[in-house]
Amino acid sequence: MRIYRQSRTQYRDPMTQDILLGQTLRFSGNPFGDAGWENVTHYEREGAVLIEDGMIRMVGSREAVLKAAPNATRHDYGAHLISAGFIDAHMHYPQTAMIASWGKQLIDWLNTYTFPEESRFGDIDYAREIAERTVRLATQHGTTSLTSFCTIHPESVDAFFSAAAQIDMEVIAGKTCMDRNAPDTLRDTAQSAYDDSKRLLEKWHRNGRAHYAITPRFSPTSTPEQLEAMGALWAEHPDCLMQTHLSEQIPEIAWVRELFPEAPDYLDTYEQFGLLGPKGLYGHAIYLEDREIARLQEVDASLVHCPTSNTFIGSGLFDMQGLAGRGMRVGIATDTGGGSSFSMLRTMAAAYEIGQLRGVALHPSQLMWLATEGSARAVHREGRIGHLGAGATADLVVLDLGSTEAIAQRTDRAESIWDALFPTIMMGDDRAVSAVWINGREINR
Ligand code: GUN
Ligand code: ZN
Repeated sequence: MRIYRQSRTQYRDPMTQDILLGQTLRFSGNPFGDAGWENVTHYEREGAVLIEDGMIRMVGSREAVLKAAPNATRHDYGAHLISAGFIDAHMHYPQTAMIASWGKQLIDWLNTYTFPEESRFGDIDYAREIAERTVRLATQHGTTSLTSFCTIHPESVDAFFSAAAQIDMEVIAGKTCMDRNAPDTLRDTAQSAYDDSKRLLEKWHRNGRAHYAITPRFSPTSTPEQLEAMGALWAEHPDCLMQTHLSEQIPEIAWVRELFPEAPDYLDTYEQFGLLGPKGLYGHAIYLEDREIARLQEVDASLVHCPTSNTFIGSGLFDMQGLAGRGMRVGIATDTGGGSSFSMLRTMAAAYEIGQLRGVALHPSQLMWLATEGSARAVHREGRIGHLGAGATADLVVLDLGSTEAIAQRTDRAESIWDALFPTIMMGDDRAVSAVWINGREINR
């Protein structure tokens, strides 16, 4: 008798086996750690990945994997590189349609471009349209998981989780809460933010591949009462992530100091309300003071580097080597639409460029790790997503390392996988993405 497991979108025969053939790249540890990237990075020129019932069952040599599952359906990607799918650990899907808006820095940029656009998301049809567009653009660029802010409107949360569920994409998101320093159209209250967030959390958290994140935007747009309400909700649901922004721009930090004169630093404006914890996800974190770094590390909180945003909005240079080198949970992200690209390849390139401006050349293995394993670890999903290894969900990206003439002519003379991959990291875009698999199925993009 055949047993069918009902997935959100269709029935799947659990006995279906697929083998992806190509070059493979996987990690067995953190390339920022003492072991060194060489000892935790594993590359196979003639590699293969066995997928069964949405999960990765085996990664190994072509010969070994074909022998283990001789009847599996084969997908031969030739010399393309099979990697865990990219994980965008901080973005704002409601900002998709206003990406690349000219000429402003953070606070002016929020007031001029962001808040008017976000005001539209009480309209469920518009929210659905942009949510579906965002999911499509992400997968076109090889991203298989998103962690997103929504808007203050509960409709925006329903729209996003529903769009992701259509393709079984693992996502983390929450209603963005703000009750001050925003237009009337974008303000909730401490009580309504608590009530709406709680209801949405109960509806969506662990519903299929959805995870709810409690989401106060940042301390300038929440009153102390609202931050306290968010802290109370998190204490009731410590299993959820809490996402927010921290120390992104110097004028922003000065504003936080004015709004919270008693607080010793920006991080304390969260900590005093119960918004610092092991499942806290802090975007940007550029201008951290020593006390803040020590506290963030002590509680095992996560930081998310948003390099295209940090250059585009003119924020500053994140200290990747210093922070990831301490073993902290650090991911990378597009920060759409403060970020200027939907591509995690472009995001890796910008992280490399920011490293160079700080005198550090991040290795391609470190960049690929950040976009997969590092971001998964930042959102506490390590081993489950962003991992090319048995037991992880089969969310994969296949990269053509010669996708344009400009890249191919450079790759032609490559002498190692790193030499072959780095031009795609630096110059690649959606044309480099030859296939995307989500939850064990190839996605039409
Ligand atoms: N800080 C508060 N809100 C935002 C936002 O939407 N984008 C960025 N980059 N920073 C923020
Ligand atoms: Zn952000």
